[in-house]
Amino acid sequence: MTVAIDGPASSGKSTVAKRIADQLNLIYVDSGAMYRTITYVVIKERIDLTDQKAIVNALNSVSIEFERTVEGQSVFCNKIDVTDKIRQNDVTNAVSIVAAHPLVREVLVERQRKIALKQNVIMDGRDIGTVVLPDASVKIFLVASVDERAERRHKENKQKGIESDLTKLKQEITDRDYKDSTRKVSPLKKADDAIEIDTTALSIDEVVKKIKEIIFEKY
Ligand code: C5P
Repeated sequence: MTVAIDGPASSGKSTVAKRIADQLNLIYVDSGAMYRTITYVVIKERIDLTDQKAIVNALNSVSIEFERTVEGQSVFCNKIDVTDKIRQNDVTNAVSIVAAHPLVREVLVERQRKIALKQNVIMDGRDIGTVVLPDASVKIFLVASVDERAERRHKENKQKGIESDLTKLKQEITDRDYKDSTRKVSPLKKADDAIEIDTTALSIDEVVKKIKEIIFEKY
């Protein structure tokens, strides 16, 4: 079974995907965390964000692994825990530049497909239903208003102790969506056969319930 969940920034993809993974015993694959991890390495090693060749070189010697934890999921880069580091503002604001490089995507898409080959997965991102897993059994496209998404991210940031400014967040989310949906390669786009769910007025539980109903209709 493969479940693809795509949607814009902070639309709730990872929160609902994690819950569904737990309830249905699926492996959760956070493809955004993979783009974030290579972006973190690029910043740390002071590689030029526009230097695709250098980024791919770095990526080829970077291992990205996930580990399930009580709180959700930890991300390891060359065995070092980078879970919190990849959520910091510097990474968030640079990731769309790194993710727009076709050769970076080639490497990461191949890794994502490999993970899905071996086990039942629920994978979230921007191009999962369109490019990474075009034959996914269930495809969901989550949307929500920018205001609602910024509010959610603001709350989350405050809980995690990350500095947060609501007006700035709205602008950053809008910018990231624009970059992700207008890039040439694998832009953020609803797959023709994906089911769209607007989560603006829904609780996490309601979204989880809806998606599970869609999955159960299939199986
Ligand atoms: O999902 P998340 O917001 O953590 O993703 C971070 C960034 O990674 C996105 O804004 C996008 O630039 C990139 N991304 C992507 N393709 C995916 C997942 C994420 O381009 N499948």
